[in-house]
Amino acid sequence: TEQELGEIYDFAVQLGKDAGRLLMDFARARWEDQGSGEQLFSEKDNAVDIVTKADEGMYTLLNFCGVWIADYAMKDVEAFVKNSIEKKYPSHKFIGEETYSKGVSRDYLIGDEPTWCVDPLDGTVNYTHLFPMFCVSIAFVVSGKAIIGVIYAPFMNQIFSACKGRGAWLNETQQLPLIRKPIPPMPAPAPGGCIFSCEWGKDRRDIPDGNMHRKVESFVNMAAEAGGRDGKGGMVHGVRSLGSATLDLAYVAMGAFDIWWEGGCWEWDVSAGIAILQEAGGLVTTANPPEDHQNAEITDVQLGSRLYLAIRPAGPSETESGRQTQ
Ligand code: IPD
Repeated sequence: TEQELGEIYDFAVQLGKDAGRLLMDFARARWEDQGSGEQLFSEKDNAVDIVTKADEGMYTLLNFCGVWIADYAMKDVEAFVKNSIEKKYPSHKFIGEETYSKGVSRDYLIGDEPTWCVDPLDGTVNYTHLFPMFCVSIAFVVSGKAIIGVIYAPFMNQIFSACKGRGAWLNETQQLPLIRKPIPPMPAPAPGGCIFSCEWGKDRRDIPDGNMHRKVESFVNMAAEAGGRDGKGGMVHGVRSLGSATLDLAYVAMGAFDIWWEGGCWEWDVSAGIAILQEAGGLVTTANPPEDHQNAEITDVQLGSRLYLAIRPAGPSETESGRQTQ
């Protein structure tokens, strides 16, 4: 019911705040153990999928730009979120990055049943270096669609939240999108004057075979080709890579980013961000830019597709006549 949904939303917002504060407690770890030499992060499957000890909930140290920071971690952030959900909603399913990653299966797991999809720390590499773009990301998914999303970036004290039918919000008071640019986001091949955000991803192979190089090159080409209302390109204002997929989506919902793209994300990387973006009126599809984004109309993308393209909410010039595609 509407009322139940509202209660779940309130619970999710509070949970996001609490979990984010816990992350900050880890990040504010003590500094006195500089140079202790203790290894601060363990490796998951490979060297790039870092699992910080904060993820694992161990008493730990955190590395900040070569300085060893002592932390007195109390418990695993994901365990905190999971336990809180299980206590309140025992019948709901839970998918969390750390829990799931420790499992064997990497199959697509979100089904029709009410499911919480949680990344206790999106932007793990940022967090490890204390670059502020990290957050807790909590989504409530029903029938494969994210209908509630909460993203809390505690370092910046920004909480993004949305519940289907209730709007998307920054810090619970400012409705998203905050910025409605007059330039339409979608004339082909891409908007002039846009900020294009993408994630470079990670090359997980021991011997890189040029994947990263190809990706960087394709982004550079996209940026070079993008924009110019005459289609001649060269008017992209900038290309950004935050290191947190879910925050990328929140900034697209805000209207700060025009476009975001990443291939290879997991459900927990994107589901809360998708809920927020869709509720703000943005588009998300599984298309590949730049060829497909002009046709992006899918607003209820199926989670688990790995490949996502997000486009900011329409500007004032489009809202009357609907979105233009060329
Ligand atoms: C990662 C971040 C990153 C994206 C990766 C994700 P994590 O999540 O969102 O921006 O490029 O695909 O796996 O590991 O920090 O939770």
